[in-house]
Amino acid sequence: MGSYKKIYQSWKEDQLKFWQKQSEGIDWEKKPQKILDDSNLPFYKWFPDGRLNTCYNAIDRHVLSGKGNQTAIIYDSPVTNIKKKISYKQLQGQIIQFSGALKKLGVSKGDRVIIYMPMIPEAIIAMLACARIGAIHSVVFGGFASTELATRIDDCQPKLIVSASCGHEVNKIIKYKPLLDKAVELAKHKVEKCIIFQRESHQAPLNTGQDIDWNEAIKNVPSPEPLPVEANHPLYILYTSGTTGKPKGVVRDNGGHAVSLNWSMKNIYDVEPGDVYWAASDIGWVVGHSYIVYAPLIYGCTSVLFEGKPIGTPDAGTFWRIISEYKVSVLFTAPTALRAVKRDDPNGDFIKKHDLLSLKSLFLAGERADPDTVSWLENKLKIPIIDHWWQTETGWPVASNPMGIEALPIKKGSPTVAMPGYNINVLSEDKIEVERGSLGAISIKLPLPPGSLPTLWNADERYIESYLTSFPGYYETGDAGYQDEDGYLYIMSRTDDVINVAGHRLSTGAMEEVLSNHQDVAECAVIGVSDELKGQVPMGLVCLNKGCNKSYETISKEIIALVRNEIGPVASFKLVAIVPALPKTRSGKILRSTIRKIADKTEWEMPATVDDPMVFQDIEKAIDALR
Ligand code: COA
Ligand code: AMP
Repeated sequence: MGSYKKIYQSWKEDQLKFWQKQSEGIDWEKKPQKILDDSNLPFYKWFPDGRLNTCYNAIDRHVLSGKGNQTAIIYDSPVTNIKKKISYKQLQGQIIQFSGALKKLGVSKGDRVIIYMPMIPEAIIAMLACARIGAIHSVVFGGFASTELATRIDDCQPKLIVSASCGHEVNKIIKYKPLLDKAVELAKHKVEKCIIFQRESHQAPLNTGQDIDWNEAIKNVPSPEPLPVEANHPLYILYTSGTTGKPKGVVRDNGGHAVSLNWSMKNIYDVEPGDVYWAASDIGWVVGHSYIVYAPLIYGCTSVLFEGKPIGTPDAGTFWRIISEYKVSVLFTAPTALRAVKRDDPNGDFIKKHDLLSLKSLFLAGERADPDTVSWLENKLKIPIIDHWWQTETGWPVASNPMGIEALPIKKGSPTVAMPGYNINVLSEDKIEVERGSLGAISIKLPLPPGSLPTLWNADERYIESYLTSFPGYYETGDAGYQDEDGYLYIMSRTDDVINVAGHRLSTGAMEEVLSNHQDVAECAVIGVSDELKGQVPMGLVCLNKGCNKSYETISKEIIALVRNEIGPVASFKLVAIVPALPKTRSGKILRSTIRKIADKTEWEMPATVDDPMVFQDIEKAIDALR
């Protein structure tokens, strides 16, 4: 039996023993005596009587063990031409100062703090400062509009918001303050204070009474020690898209999170403390939380914080420049980023210009890794290209090639095998396991491992209904796929209305809610259509109210602007088709999957239950006119 099989088997035989052993990688104020509390099913609690502080584990323990001068964060920002190395000791000082500022403003254990910031070190400082005092952070991605931010403010009811004057996109400055002010105004929950980090590139006017300049906030503040909290105390809430317009507040606890992330760094990514690890993502997404901030720091690595894009900042060579400049060991990014690089530099000329000897492997996640891009990367880089699969909910990889245990043979199109902690089952609609090779709903037998979501914020019922109801005893991932004879997993599609745009998870249901609020729209559907660069992009089909005589240009411009204003530019919503009617089953269900096939020009069959077959011709015509 290979090493992976042995370790997976040992986990399966005694889960508690396995996780007890892994918990020793973490410094506890009170070591857990109990490993799993399953007395209140379907809720599970890992390490219920343990107490720890995540900031202590990510920062202080390294300083105390003599690694204070090691670089914790390399900040590289081609959009502002700033490069900076911050040691563990320096980072500790800044975190202590900012946690003192939070304390002085009345933030204490359990209070929520929203962080709406670009990719700057202060965002990481704010996250860890919350962790230090037991406050719960909720980072909101900068590409979301005010309405989305307001929804999150109302759901998690923060004591204060930390933001910055602006963000930088390829060649434009995004002013954050007007977006923040609008969100604060829209939200029902009244936020008393906002701390604003003023960037040199743009100084935002501050609102008297509400806003405090970051540099003022950190003056004459106390220096809080890390506050030990219960292992199950929430560390953060991260909102993610579901089927409706209301995002789900995924809760992450402190104990299980620290244990699982610490385990993953060696066993999955095969890095050692001191190595340079780079997740080219954004702190607004789970990849950023887990693998820009918490895992590399808890494990004692150096983490790269990159404020730029794979192309255009300034060119398709940026990734390779960073790898060679900082001797990055492992890169983790979304396939879409590398599709963009490949498109701009098909011969890999930029790759040839850099010494990439430090790079041991490249991990991909967030969306399907298309075999074309994987082959191109293998060919150009000559290192293992590892597809791995996980979700905001799980917090760390469900399936991967466990490079630190054993490099398993790579099968293109598969994120390889289940990690210890995850018992993956592919189930049929009848709730039974399908045969190997057959498609079904990918589900994980309960309990989920440490680090996975214990529930949704203030929504236990929604947690049960969304994830635990369709397949009793299992967590429903929302992905469909199959496992082959060797247990390799293949992710084929979503089973819900979630789409994946440039590695960003978005809800078509949420977009439909926005479209249907347009005064001239009688009915609408939003589908995800294939896109060469972004994997998928949304397309809206609308039927207009009788009597509306606006031109196509006017309507589509208005609808596109509406989605941009309500959801944000990150939705990349640019395609609108006006159709006389939407195809429906006789029971009134819109046939979204058939429309998607028409748009993607894949084979489709007229559904037997369709109400009016003629509508498909109009749909085909309207979509053809768009693309
Ligand atoms: N703040 C404000 N606006 C943002 C933003 C942010 N943090 N991030 C994105 N946007 C805006 C962009 O400016 C763009 O606006 P535009 O319509 O005015 O041009 C829009 O949102 C879409 O952005 P993006 O998805 O980045 O698309 P792009 O066309 O600018 O770039 C890629 C294409 C492939 C280069 C880019 O999508 C990319 O780097 N993807 C990788 C994503 C990733 O790392 N995902 C992490 C999951 S692991
Ligand atoms: P998020 O919660 O934003 O990380 O999105 C998670 C979803 O992205 C998953 O449920 C999948 O649908 C998709 N996804 C993530 N990684 C992969 C992968 N390696 N292959 C295919 N789909 C993926």
